[in-house]
Amino acid sequence: MANYIILGAQWGDEGKGKIVDLLASRADLVVRFQGGANAGHTVIVGDKKFVLHLIPGGIVSGKAVNVIGNGCVVDPITFKQEIEYLKKQGIDVTPDKLMISFQAHVVTPVHKYLDRVLNKKIGTTGRGIGPAYTDKIQRTGVRLEAIVNGTFLEHFKQQAKLYEQYAQNLYKEPFLNIEQAVEELKEAETYIRPFIGDTVELIHSYLNKKANILYEGAQGAMLDVDHGTYPFVTSSSTTIGGAFTGGGVFLEFDKRIGLVKAYATRVGEGPFPTELNDETGEKLREKGHEFGATTGRPRRCGWLDLKLVKRAQIINGFNYITLSKLSCLSGFETIKVAVDYDSAGQPVYRSFPGWEQKIEGVTEWQDLPQNAREYVRFIEDYLQTPIGLVSTGPDRNHVIYRQPLW
Ligand code: IMP
Repeated sequence: MANYIILGAQWGDEGKGKIVDLLASRADLVVRFQGGANAGHTVIVGDKKFVLHLIPGGIVSGKAVNVIGNGCVVDPITFKQEIEYLKKQGIDVTPDKLMISFQAHVVTPVHKYLDRVLNKKIGTTGRGIGPAYTDKIQRTGVRLEAIVNGTFLEHFKQQAKLYEQYAQNLYKEPFLNIEQAVEELKEAETYIRPFIGDTVELIHSYLNKKANILYEGAQGAMLDVDHGTYPFVTSSSTTIGGAFTGGGVFLEFDKRIGLVKAYATRVGEGPFPTELNDETGEKLREKGHEFGATTGRPRRCGWLDLKLVKRAQIINGFNYITLSKLSCLSGFETIKVAVDYDSAGQPVYRSFPGWEQKIEGVTEWQDLPQNAREYVRFIEDYLQTPIGLVSTGPDRNHVIYRQPLW
């Protein structure tokens, strides 16, 4: 038995889908505890690619039971779409494989409208995440239990009527078609109802069974509502504390895995000290195919900022690091890493000689060029945490294990 947690150490998009997939074949239970359909976890198995937004990555392997915990926000309409998408891909998501907490909050079409109208400056994913969490904290939200007890649609109609007035008088942007939204929600309600249950009880029962449990974080530490680059953050706790409130059960994580990308990316607005607005940044974007999995937006790219990753390490207590996309750094003459900031707040870089050799698909540490190994060792020394796994490509098998993952 073992309890695992994986968490992004930067601004998300560190390659979680692949690590979840590698771990999920051993996990009995996979738990998401924060966020909603704003995540974009890409899992590649053989020649098949799955992009998951809300549903935990454990669904792909087919073995694990999956949980969407009370700390998440759930849009019934996109949930239905994701289930239908998975069905087309040959994955049948049934209530015995997935449970959603009755305490999780519902994301309604009004929240998505508000996200579009109010959060332009943040550059959100437009999935209604911030407004749904706002309602939760303001105590005006509605939980999935309302779908079970049949009061949800009434709540939605009242919410829509209220915000229709704001839309006309304040926001000056056309409001949604309420009738149409009600119809869509009616259908989605029937779809989601069988999946709703008491996930605290479920997680607890797996703990008692001494099962293997995997907590799957979404986004990354620098998007955490407390610890990230506020206000350019998401609205949930993406760091380890969120796992306790958002899963609802106390458990000790044997392995606390920090996901680090070999360079840095960010989608949306906000500070990014090592950003490269030049050819090098463009080259990183091309080599890394850095386009958002949820919105398709080009990601901003830059050098690895170890000062920030160290901060994420301190917050989360990582004891195992995975380093992704090392293969995308082939072909750079010099590779830089920010190790500190100067008094003006500018990054202080350490430069490394790059390597020409293509390393995609390499599985042996010794087969990496010397310069690549030195780069990895430097990161490890800086973080004082072992880099147990280096990912060298998109495929499940493109991995160098320096320490067993499970
Ligand atoms: P929200 O989560 O949609 O409210 O967006 C808030 C900020 O977090 C925006 O800058 C988004 O681009 C970013 N964000 C949200 N989810 C992800 C993700 O899964 N990967 C990367 N960035 C994300």
